[in-house]
Amino acid sequence: MAQQEYKPHSDNLFAHKGCVFLQDEYSELTQEYIDNLEHFEIRDDDIFLVTFPKSGTVWTQRIIILIYEEDFPEMKDMASYRRMPWLEYPAKGDKYNTRRSPRLFSSHLPQHLMPRGLLKKKAKVVYVTRNPKDVMVSYFHFAKFMKKLKKPKNFDETLDKFLSGWVLGGCWFDHVRGWNTNQDKFNILFLSYEEMIKDLRSVVVRLCKFVGKNLTDAAIDSIVEKVTFDNMKNDNKANYEVLPDNVKDNTKCKFMRKGTIGDWKNTMTVAQSERFDKVYEERMKDFPLKFIWDVTEIQK
Ligand code: A3P
Repeated sequence: MAQQEYKPHSDNLFAHKGCVFLQDEYSELTQEYIDNLEHFEIRDDDIFLVTFPKSGTVWTQRIIILIYEEDFPEMKDMASYRRMPWLEYPAKGDKYNTRRSPRLFSSHLPQHLMPRGLLKKKAKVVYVTRNPKDVMVSYFHFAKFMKKLKKPKNFDETLDKFLSGWVLGGCWFDHVRGWNTNQDKFNILFLSYEEMIKDLRSVVVRLCKFVGKNLTDAAIDSIVEKVTFDNMKNDNKANYEVLPDNVKDNTKCKFMRKGTIGDWKNTMTVAQSERFDKVYEERMKDFPLKFIWDVTEIQK
C-alpha cells in the first residue's frame, strides 16, 4: 500500500517533502516553516539528536541533557521537550536564535530536510536507530498515548500504515537509509537503541567523547543511574508524563512502556511478522547496518 492511498491530511498527520508531520496547533510548525528550515542558522557547537520516532529519542535526549546539565543550571528543572526542543515543532514563543550555546535540539527529520548549515560538518548530529519491528510496536502503543494520533483499530492497521510510510516521521526505510547513505556529509555519530540496552555506560562515554565533554567517572556513573528505565519512569521531567493532558492520555498507555528488545514478538502474529520480513528483505537487503531483533542476541 502506498502512502498516497492515505489522504494527505488525515489522522491529524500531513505529508510534506517526503516526511510525515503531526498537525499541531501548539507549535509553529507549518509547511512554510519546514521549507525554511534549510536556512536555519546553525552554530558550530549545536547538537542535534535525530531519530525515527520510537527509536529511543527521549532516552538519548535525557542523556545528552544530563551531559550538559552543569553548564546550564538554570535549565535543570525543565522538562526534556523544552530543554532540548524539536527543531521542527517549535513551541509558540520559543526563540531558538536567542538560546545560549551550545544549543541542544531533537528532530525526527529525514536528512534532506535538515538545515544546510550542518553540511559544514562542524555542528554535531547523533542518530539513533532501533529494530523496526520494535519501533512499529512502540508506535502502535504510542498512538494510544498521544491524543492527537488516531487510535489504531488493530495491529494490522498499524502495519499497513508503517509499511506505507503513513506514520509520524514518514517512511522508516527511507529515513534510516537516507541518514546512513548520506552520513559522510555530516559530523555524525550513529548509535542504536539495542547497544544502549546492552551497555549503557559505554554509550554515554561515546556520546561524551563525540560532543567533546570530559566528565569524571563519577559524573558518568550518575548519568547512567539517572537514565535507567525505572529511574526515568519516575522522573516526570524526563518521561513525558509532564505533557499537558490535552496532548496525552496516560490512562491508555504509558510513554515509558516496556523498554526492551523483541517485544514485537508479544504483539505481531507470525503472518504479520512474515509480511514485514518480506518488505524488509526487499528494501534493506543491501543495507550495511544490522539490527538486533531479540534480547537474547545481546546476551551471547
Ligand atoms: P517501548 O514502547 O518499546 O517501551 P522514543 O523516545 O523515540 O519515542 O522511543 C520510545 C521508546 O523508548 C519506548 O519503547 C520507551 O519505553 C523506550 N525508552 C524510553 N526511555 C527508556 C530507557 N531509559 N530505557 C529503555 N527504554 C526506554
